[in-house]
Amino acid sequence: MVTNDLFPPQALPPDPAQVAQLRRLLHEHAHRYYVEDAPTIPDAEYDRLFQALQAMEAQHPALLTPDSPTQRVGGRALESFASVRHAVPMLSIRTETDTEASGAHNFDARVRRELGLDGSAGPVAYVAEPKFDGLAMSLRYQHGVLVQAATRGDGEVGEDVTQNIRTIGQIPLRLPDGVPEVLEVRGEVYMRRDDFETLNEQQRARGQKTFVNPRNAAAGAVRQLDPSIAAQRPLSFFAYGLGEVSPAQAGGPEFGTHYEMLQTLKIWGFPVSALVTIAHGATELVAYYETIAQQRDGLGFDIDGVVYKVNSLALQRRMGFVTREPRWAVAHKFPAQEQLTTVLGIDVQVGRTGKLTPVAKLAPVFVGGVTVTNATLHNEDEARRKDVRVGDTVIVRRAGDVIPEVVGVVLPRVPTESSVHPELVERSAQAVTGRGPIFTMPRQCPVCGSTAVREEGEVDYRCTGGLFCSAQRKQAILHFAQRRAVEVEGLGEKLVDQLVDGEVIRTLSDLYRLGLASLASLDRMADKSAQNIVAALEKSKQTTLPRFLFGLGIRHVGEATAKALARHFGSLDAIMDASLDQLLHVSDVGPTVAQSLRTFFDQPHNREVVEQLRAGGVSWQEGPPAERAPTPLSGKTFVLTGTLPTLSRDDAKEMIEAAGGKVAGSVSKKSTFLVAGAEAGSKLDKARELGVAVLDEAGLKELLDGRA
Ligand code: IVH
Repeated sequence: MVTNDLFPPQALPPDPAQVAQLRRLLHEHAHRYYVEDAPTIPDAEYDRLFQALQAMEAQHPALLTPDSPTQRVGGRALESFASVRHAVPMLSIRTETDTEASGAHNFDARVRRELGLDGSAGPVAYVAEPKFDGLAMSLRYQHGVLVQAATRGDGEVGEDVTQNIRTIGQIPLRLPDGVPEVLEVRGEVYMRRDDFETLNEQQRARGQKTFVNPRNAAAGAVRQLDPSIAAQRPLSFFAYGLGEVSPAQAGGPEFGTHYEMLQTLKIWGFPVSALVTIAHGATELVAYYETIAQQRDGLGFDIDGVVYKVNSLALQRRMGFVTREPRWAVAHKFPAQEQLTTVLGIDVQVGRTGKLTPVAKLAPVFVGGVTVTNATLHNEDEARRKDVRVGDTVIVRRAGDVIPEVVGVVLPRVPTESSVHPELVERSAQAVTGRGPIFTMPRQCPVCGSTAVREEGEVDYRCTGGLFCSAQRKQAILHFAQRRAVEVEGLGEKLVDQLVDGEVIRTLSDLYRLGLASLASLDRMADKSAQNIVAALEKSKQTTLPRFLFGLGIRHVGEATAKALARHFGSLDAIMDASLDQLLHVSDVGPTVAQSLRTFFDQPHNREVVEQLRAGGVSWQEGPPAERAPTPLSGKTFVLTGTLPTLSRDDAKEMIEAAGGKVAGSVSKKSTFLVAGAEAGSKLDKARELGVAVLDEAGLKELLDGRA
């Protein structure tokens, strides 16, 4: 274990050995942070060490080495990339497009035939890996130091993108002692989906072009001539193979199998996917294909299939290559997450807070495992930037749990006049001019006709109709009736449409005036269902102040804010009458939220709805304001994991929040306690690594009672 004591903040003697040790320390912490996702020192401490190294190197440039962690970012923008001839060509893999189990069976049969194995020989051992959807990269290390990173190019000659690749925290700049003198590690550079979404949100907010998918965003970042821009694009890496290794035997470890080689790469500090496994014969390959296909949506990064490789390197050598593809590997594809379809129309939907969203209506298309008929265009700027028009052929993407999106238009190519026959020019010109008009957001709400406005600095248009707008009313009712608010079981979208469109109800409070007769008279409503709704409405009348407050659907007031307000003020009247200043005293309430609350309760019709709901029988317990209520857990963040002996997850959460604590979903340096029950998994490991205190249920109860 390395310690940090050697490097006090002051007095840094530029001893080369000490500089080297500081570098090693920083490499180790970078590996824990980027590859293992389990840092052991605070970020600030890492920064301090990093700055210490920077200072030493600045004072003594002779001590600067290319593998220094300080060299990840920096360098000047390039004019173009230099060419790199690969010492060992970068091959591609034969693709099995048959997405049925037969894809795996075909490959196994071919391998057995080529190896001359008959039925009596046992199953062949394979390594099964995800097929990462990024771009291939060759990382060249000399004497353990990263000296070059090259793209695949045509397989023989690629481009030198070392400057950009250095910015990827997951890629080691220096390897441990004992690695071969020359070592080329090959793998895939990719962008995680959450990083991609964040990047696109930033691009959207700045009014810049969004990226089509994580692969394109990653490729763009890698081929960015200015490394400071590349450094802002979060990339990741998985290793899956080797290029040149020399000396092949002496010096380096001798691998018998592909799997051993991957395990060694992991030990050397490279990220190797945890989904890589050994599979015997076609049956296990099929099982792997199916398991990974099921996990695909939840993976956090895009994959477009799986890869099967013969595990034994001796057998790989025996099988050899056909042109540029090894005979011992195959890629077995999954159904595509992007498809082409036609835009039938562009609708504008009205959300609960009046936000207008353009939505492309599509010819039904099966993509990412579901049939998609709608895809969001986000807002007017985005729709115009993508220039999506009725009749266009577009690429639709659905990856992970992300809502389907139109990523772009596939335009008919417009040939230049000189290059083609005149009649072709005419036809393609017509194809282009024949497109519908460019999208413009209506200045009136498409549902209620009220003016739609776009406020200064905002990207969204909003309908100003408020609860006059039936679309907003419907959404408001659904929001109020949802499980996390007052919960009216069975009151779904279809029923609300019927009730509002049929003018059976107008406002929230009308809900509690609904009788059996009016419900049963609705189209397709059975007596039994009507009775269930009446019973659910009756049940929903007993609620809590935070649920009721959240259910009102005040802009910017989510569940957590509603809880904080209820705790602070104790009663609804106190909240309704609170001044801006008083509201700002609540933890978690800033100027935007405070203003939103005031605006809401300043409107007489909103107050009227609240009064009518109370008159209709909706009630909750009110308490004293929080000044007198105990908040022993305020400022503390809890994470819950495993099964607690008596408390349900929701109970524990409610008790912690009632005592002023917060509950978060994952363990980080910011967590105060992990409350662990039976079968606590990775969160417990993570808490231990980060030094987060761990409690059991009894410990939590002691804290809640103020005994601990
Ligand atoms: S192995 C000898 N393994 O697929 C084969 N490639 O068509 C060399 N890829 O350019 C590649 N995941 O970009 C291999 N687990 C994996 C892969 C993988 C993705 C990509 C890689 C390569 C292409 C091959």
